[in-house]
Amino acid sequence: NKKGFIFDLDGVIVDTAKYHYLAWSDLASELGFEFTIEQNEMFKGVSRKRCMEILLDIGGITATKNQFDTWMVEKNVDYLKYIDKMDASEILPDVVRVLDFLKKHHIPIALGSASKNAQPILEKVGLLSYFDTIVDGNNVTKAKPDPEVFLLAAKQLGVKADDCVVFEDAVAGIEAANKANMVSIGIGDKNILSEAQYNFKDFTEMDAIFLNGLLAGK
Ligand code: G6P
Ligand code: MG
Repeated sequence: NKKGFIFDLDGVIVDTAKYHYLAWSDLASELGFEFTIEQNEMFKGVSRKRCMEILLDIGGITATKNQFDTWMVEKNVDYLKYIDKMDASEILPDVVRVLDFLKKHHIPIALGSASKNAQPILEKVGLLSYFDTIVDGNNVTKAKPDPEVFLLAAKQLGVKADDCVVFEDAVAGIEAANKANMVSIGIGDKNILSEAQYNFKDFTEMDAIFLNGLLAGK
């Protein structure tokens, strides 16, 4: 069967989690409380709106609808300042090697991200042309761990869900991939991503034997 590969963006292709963290902690300190790097773990793979809700919870702040929206915009403006400076040097190690491997084997590739900033980031780091389709926060209504983002990506690739492989760094993303009945590959801490079918610290640990195995089937 024809295979399809789906990549999450933040934390898999580029380490934007640090910029999300900086922007959220800027907002938290403006609102008078501290947002820690440990708490940031909960924000991975989670929509901007949901992150805003969690942040206010952490700070014990009740916001009006207006404040909520204003702060969310403020966070994004701040985040965009950080990502504006991004270039190819921020692509995580061996991502390009894996993308080139897939291209060489004519495997369709999708992006499956919760971010509404996905396309400009891929453009900035020069990877946009690798992707046959992009499904992101602008195209889906149900956030990870709902499998919608990955199922839509599979559909757009013209590949059956069962034949898709997902690379994810978020607990919610692994759960979404598992629900979609796709091969879930955790990129990051294997203790955190314990629900993943396979775990790798990063792409440097993923050799050609493993990749060929994925192409050959489950
Ligand atoms: C990714 C990140 C999350 C982020 C979400 C929305 O899933 O892991 O931390 O909240 O995208 O990103 P956005 O760029 O739309 O604010
Ligand atoms: Mg991610």
